[in-house]
This record gives sequence, C-alpha cells and structure tokens, in this order.
Amino acid sequence: MSRQIFVTTALPYANGNFHVGHIMEYIQADIWVRFQRMQGHQVNFVGADDAHGAPIMIAAEKAGKTPQQFVADIAAGRKPYLEGFHIAFDHWSSTDSAENHALAQEIYVALREAGLITVRPVEQFFDPEKSMFLPDRFIKGECPKCGAKDQYGDSCEVCGAVYSPIELKNPYSALSGATPVRKTSDHYFFKLSDPRCMEFLQAWTQDGRLQSEVANKIAEWFTKDESGEGGLSDWDISRDAPYFGIEIPDAPGKYFYVWLDAPVGYLASLKSYFAHGGPKARHGDARTFEEYMADPAVEQVHFIGKDITYFHTLFWPAMLKFSGRKLPTQINVHGFITVSGEKMSKSRGTGIDPLKYLGLGMNPEWLRYYIAAKLNSKVEDVDFNPEDFVARVNSDLVGKYVNIASRCSTFIHKYFDGELAQLAAADEGKLQEMIPLQAVISRETGIAEAIDKREFGKALREIMAAADEINQYFDTAKPWELAKDSAQHVANSALHEVLSACLEGFKYLTLFLSPILPEVTRRAFDFLGFDMPLSWAERRQPVSTIRKYEHLMTRVDPKMLDALFEPPVPPVVEAPKPGGGNKAPMPPEGEHLALGRPGGEEIAPTITIDDFVKVDLRIAKIVNAEHVEGSTKLLRLTLDVGEGRTRNVFSGIKDAYNPEDLVGKLTVMVANLAPRKMKFGVSEGMVLAGSHADEKANPGIYVLEPFAGALPGMRVR
Ligand code: MSP
Ligand code: ZN
Repeated sequence: MSRQIFVTTALPYANGNFHVGHIMEYIQADIWVRFQRMQGHQVNFVGADDAHGAPIMIAAEKAGKTPQQFVADIAAGRKPYLEGFHIAFDHWSSTDSAENHALAQEIYVALREAGLITVRPVEQFFDPEKSMFLPDRFIKGECPKCGAKDQYGDSCEVCGAVYSPIELKNPYSALSGATPVRKTSDHYFFKLSDPRCMEFLQAWTQDGRLQSEVANKIAEWFTKDESGEGGLSDWDISRDAPYFGIEIPDAPGKYFYVWLDAPVGYLASLKSYFAHGGPKARHGDARTFEEYMADPAVEQVHFIGKDITYFHTLFWPAMLKFSGRKLPTQINVHGFITVSGEKMSKSRGTGIDPLKYLGLGMNPEWLRYYIAAKLNSKVEDVDFNPEDFVARVNSDLVGKYVNIASRCSTFIHKYFDGELAQLAAADEGKLQEMIPLQAVISRETGIAEAIDKREFGKALREIMAAADEINQYFDTAKPWELAKDSAQHVANSALHEVLSACLEGFKYLTLFLSPILPEVTRRAFDFLGFDMPLSWAERRQPVSTIRKYEHLMTRVDPKMLDALFEPPVPPVVEAPKPGGGNKAPMPPEGEHLALGRPGGEEIAPTITIDDFVKVDLRIAKIVNAEHVEGSTKLLRLTLDVGEGRTRNVFSGIKDAYNPEDLVGKLTVMVANLAPRKMKFGVSEGMVLAGSHADEKANPGIYVLEPFAGALPGMRVR
C-alpha cells in the first residue's frame, strides 16, 4: 500500500546561517524521505524559516534593517547549504508568510471558541527608553546569589544560579542600558491546565507513537513537578508590541509569541507548496491543501532536535487537537551533534562550518554517510570524530562499496564487451545460491525495515556486511587467475559468472545506499546501464550491459580535516624565486613589507559595503584599565560607548601598555561583537589595534586613537 506522508524538519531561526546541527537534522530527514519515495510512497517534504520573535527583531534593528529585510537576507543564503548537501526539500517558506498569518489566527480563534484561551495580567520588566517589555535574555544585572556583574536575566554564568529577572540586583536593559521598570500588562494564555488538554495529552503521548525515552520523560512530568503536583501550566502565548510577529485577533497591540506561530509554519509551508501546484506536478495530486490534510490516510511526520521536544509533543498536538486538525503521526527526536565529544560552540569555532566543508572540496556524501552511520532511532547525541570519519569513509565507502565496481569493470569490458552473463536466465534456485546475491537478497528486508525505523546505523552495518561478503567471494574466486585461461573469455564462463554476480550484488548495494548517497549512486546506476536510479520495486531488473567505469568516489585526505578545523587564516602567497625553481624562499625574518603581504599577510578577500556595515565600530572612552589577575596577556578595560552603562572588554595588550597610561583615552571598539565568555569574565566587545602578522619577528601592538574632537558612541564608518 502506498503511503502519503507529509514530512517536516524544525524551522530554523532566521537570525543566522545554518550550522552543522541543522545540516545533520536535514540529512536525517532527507534520507528517510528519499527512502520512502524509493518505496513508491508519496512524500511532501517542506521547510521554512522561523522569522518571528524578539531576538530577530532586535538583531534586525542592530543591522539597520527592517525585520522583513533581515530575514529575507538570511533566507537568500540557504540555497548553497541545501543544494550542497543534496537536501531535497520540495518547498521552503517563511513563518512570516500570508499563509502563516492566516492559519495561526484561524487556529487561535478555534482554540478561543473551544474555551481554551484566558487572559491574565503579568508583571514584567519594561525598558522605558525603548518602550518595550524585555525578554529575559535582554535584561542584565548582578547575580542575586553570588553578586557577579553583567549576568543575564535567567541564570548566572559564574555560579550557575537560576532565577527570575525580577530578582537581579541593579538590573539594566541590554538594549538601551536603561534601568528597567516593573510593568503589568494583559497576557493571553493557552489553558493547557484544562482537564480536556491534560486528558488528551496524557493518552496521546503514551499511545506508542513517541520514542520510549520521550514518552517516559513526559509521563514523569505528568505525575509530578517541583511542587509535587502533576500536570501542565497554562502557556503564555502573547507578547506586547513592539514585536515582530502575528497580531492576535481582537487584541490590539498583542502578538503571538513566536512559538505559537512557528509550528503552524509547517502547515503554512505545505499550503504554499499546494498553492504553487507542487503536489500536482510531482505526483499528480490535484487536491487542495485542505482536502489533503482532511484525508485520514495522510501521515504527518516531524523531525526535530531534543531541545524542542516539549513544544512538539505537548503544545503543538494540543493546538492541533483543539482546533480540529490532523495530529502528528510521528515526532522523531534526534540528539545533538558534538565534535570530538565537545558541544559545538560557534564563538570558539569548534563546530564544522558546512560551507567551509564544501569549499574545501570535501564530498557532501562523505558527511551524509558518516552521519547516517552514527544515527539510530534514539535521542542520542552523535559525535563527529575526525579520525573516525576518515576511517569509515575510506574503508567502507571506497574500500568496500566502490571497490566492487572498479575491480569488476575492467574484466567485463576487456573480455565480455561490457556485457554481463545471463544470470537471471539461470534457474531461480541457482541464482540464490550465488554468494553475492545471497549476501544482498537475504538482507534486503532487514535493511528496508531499519531505514524505515530510522535505524540508519544498523542498516549501514548490514549493507557493509553484504559488501564484505561480495568482496570475499571475489577474492576467493580469483578472477585474475581465471582470466589467464583464454577458454574463460567466452560468454557464461565461470569468470563471466563470478564478475556478473558481483556486479549484480553491487546493484543491490547501490539501491540500498541510494537514499543516503543520492549522487554517487545515481552515477553508479548509470555505470550499471540504468538511465534512472532503480526504485525498490524494480530491484530485480538485471544488469545487462555496463557502461564505462568512471571513478565513483575518492578517498578522504586526512589533511582536509586539519584544514576544516583550522581557524581561518589569510592565504600565504609565495614569492617567486629568481631564476625559477619550485621552492619559494622564506621571507627574511623581521621583514616589514613583503611584496603582496603588507604587515605580513595578504589583503583579505573583497567585501561589499553591506558586509562592512555589519561591523559596528564605535568611539569608546577607556574609563578604567587594570591588570587581570592570573593573565599574562590581558588587560581589563572598562569602556564607555555612550550607552548609559559601561562595557567590560578584555584586550591582549598587556605587553604594550601600562593600564594607567590608557585611562581617559579614546579608542575604537567593535560594539556589536557577540559577548564572549572568557576565563576571567565576559568580554563585551573588542578594541582595535594594529600589529604584524608575525608578532614574534615583528613585535609591537598599537591601539587606535581617534583625532581630537571625537566623542564616545560616535560610529566609525
Ligand atoms: N525555530 C526553532 C524551531 C521551530 S520549529 C516549529 C528552533 N530553531 S533552531 O534554529 O534553533 O534549531 C533548529 C533545529 O536544529 C532544531 O531541531 C534543533 O534541535 C536543531 N539543532 C540545533 N543545534 C543542534 C546540534 N548541535 N545538533 C543537532 N541538532 C541541533 O529551535
Ligand atoms: Zn552568580
């Protein structure tokens, strides 16, 4: 029976480019989608940018853009990632679309009509200068427990205490520096505490559709919380203007909290795909979005990361249930990707930059393979380990899979004109006895089941075990020995059968791997003489004539991984050696201006003015400068950039300056650099200074100072 499946991945916040965590999620979903399609099922696979919320609104303001322009610019950068890793969404939309505005409002009105919306006053910090309520992340102050300065509104980075922003001492707004005031306003709540919601969710989350770890966690939650009481609290779904979001009907000045309209974006993106005629063009489905969603046979499958489980397993199903809509069939929760056992940190650059990966010429299918090999159906983290990556890709993909095609093709072309023996003509029993065919056919059901259940690692272990058997069979049969006898150079000889059986086996491996490696398997099918990749149902079609073998996949060079994890450095241009020769001389030590490398490094690649304005440079007054206990390099600077508060910045200039000589001077700082947590505290910016690329050979660091007349806070442009 052909299934109809609507598949989504979590909608990424439109405040930054994709990181490898996003790519991992998309690869997982894409493999599953391709597999279902290969089985003949109808899949609609959509994504969208999650455009709304205070952080995006504030980031847009900082970038000097409207939020709409800001998210459009982010959206414009998605394509190279998706195409680069062969991630085949059918459609990509935004939660700021007209469809989403309408659907979110419809769902809300239905919930209200069901009696599940209530209004209550809420007291919050309000920034009087910006005239807005402050989200927790934008309130800072002293930790109520340990007194550490400049801590966020929800938790202390120094002592780890968790608290409410109202408890902070000497709070200030991270947006304006102003002291926030307490203010009350009406908030709209989704009454999850209503017995109908509780009853529904308790049953729905325990009916076997969720992964057992997820279901168990939720069950625990229903039975007790910190106060010893079970159940859910009502969910605050409104935010006051100014907010980048969707207006709440009949509630002027109120917007949906981003997490209300974000999952609705799944439906809105699908709706937009239908409006574009996608399903009709793809599988002749002429229904409307509404008709499709009303069909009980349609499955709704979400792929998400573990951090957003509750939104998807509690809030979202309740929204759907009580607005009379289809409920998710599966919510597939995955763990996080770590790198060499460490959580990724964008600021420390330990993640894998997906575009850098592609830019280095690394094959996207290596990563697809590696991630698949590590994935199972549990909520476990997946570790990217560089050595393991090289070993697996080289030994499995190149050494086992590709190897079969390359070692068979030469003989087949040389002695048999590219034609295979008529194995299929032999009786079915004999065919099954041939080891290469047994190796794959005995495993095919298990492999298909494993992929359907998202046990990708298990499926790949089976696939590679089959590849091992085929290679061993080849080694035992020794076709290179057989070929010495010219009597073997005729159709259907033993030599011919051995090679043909191996290539038949290779065809099955190609089929099994096709959802994981769409590109290399497309080329492998072409080599096997098929113009189109085979579907599962077509897998018995015999290979008859192979085409010219072209190398299918190269090995990973371990140096590529070194390059991938190296912090970005300007490229070194080698000076031409007089009189030729291919080794460039080292520039003399201490040289100040090597040709083409002023200051010891090449000028960085050209940027546009738009790139430049992203960096917000400000005149800063050095209010205080002091030594940092325990640091041999750093000075702690207190800077004033006219915000009504000061900033704490650590600067590696201890060698060059006495703190007392700096106090009172003006300089230039990068004012919109993400705050960075260092051993000695949080650094909230960077002071500009000149230095030579090779500081050892050319010591000296020179802090910038503006001409007389500049004032703190002026922008440098
Ligand atoms: N906008 C919300 C989701 C709304 S869905 C209606 C969001 N966005 S996100 O950009 O922060 O994350 C998008 C997805 O990436 C989530 O599923 C998240 O779990 C996943 N990942 C983020 N970091 C990750 C890793 N390090 N590893 C794997 N997945 C990770 O949350
Ligand atoms: Zn603290």
